[in-house]
Amino acid sequence: MKKRIVVIDSGIGGLFVLREMDKIILGYDFVYMADNIHAPYGNKSKALLKKIGEEVVCGAIKKYSPEMIVIACNTLTVNAINFLRNKFKDVVFVGVEPAIKQAKIYGGNTIVLSTPSTQKNFKFLEKKINKQLQKEYHEEGVKYKSEDKIFWIADALLANKIEENFENLDVVVPYLESNLLSYKDCNIDNLVLGCTHYLALKKQLKNLFGDVSIFDGSLAVAKRAKSLLKANKENKKNNKQIKFICTNRDREYENKLKKYYNLIKNN
Ligand code: DGL
Repeated sequence: MKKRIVVIDSGIGGLFVLREMDKIILGYDFVYMADNIHAPYGNKSKALLKKIGEEVVCGAIKKYSPEMIVIACNTLTVNAINFLRNKFKDVVFVGVEPAIKQAKIYGGNTIVLSTPSTQKNFKFLEKKINKQLQKEYHEEGVKYKSEDKIFWIADALLANKIEENFENLDVVVPYLESNLLSYKDCNIDNLVLGCTHYLALKKQLKNLFGDVSIFDGSLAVAKRAKSLLKANKENKKNNKQIKFICTNRDREYENKLKKYYNLIKNN
């Protein structure tokens, strides 16, 4: 039996992280787990997210005995991954955080778009990122200047709108316009997608902002996961199985997860 990696999100957002992992990780089967019982996560408190994380991770470990769990959700990572690491010491955890570091290396004015529960941690995240930049780059090669602005926009509804309209995302454009158009005059250079669901809107956001660089953490997560896997060096064929499940075991939603993954897989 092949070793397993479980990938967790509240819904379909983590499929974009799974896509990057699928490309570069061999020798493992994947279980994609959408926690639709507790979705959306975006407005929940830290205490509740820890409780939810514990419940979902506990279920995943019991059922699938994974070597690794990837929290493919910024909201759950930022609020609960340290707690989960301490609680479940036999599993390797990898999480996703808003790719502000990459945007800072690039320099310029940046919009960070995330859920409110991720945004609440912005001071902690900024401090952590500045420390990493100092350590890794000694500030050389980082183009960010103190006059560059970071606009952090928290949205409690967008993830759900993406869930509901995944096959026709242009429907979401008027909503994006009403919330983001005012930032068009702020000379935005970078857009950080701080929620995995938002990767679905890359095309629409590019149309809205024109010439911006869009950053997200999905590839970095896949690379980090690969580097931590035990069987990573074995040269296996890419014949992995990917199972799509949701926490309330709604077959229709599970079929949707599979269908949506196939839609985005080769994009
Ligand atoms: N996809 C999740 C994230 O990256 C959260 C979506 C939600 O449930 O609000 O934050």
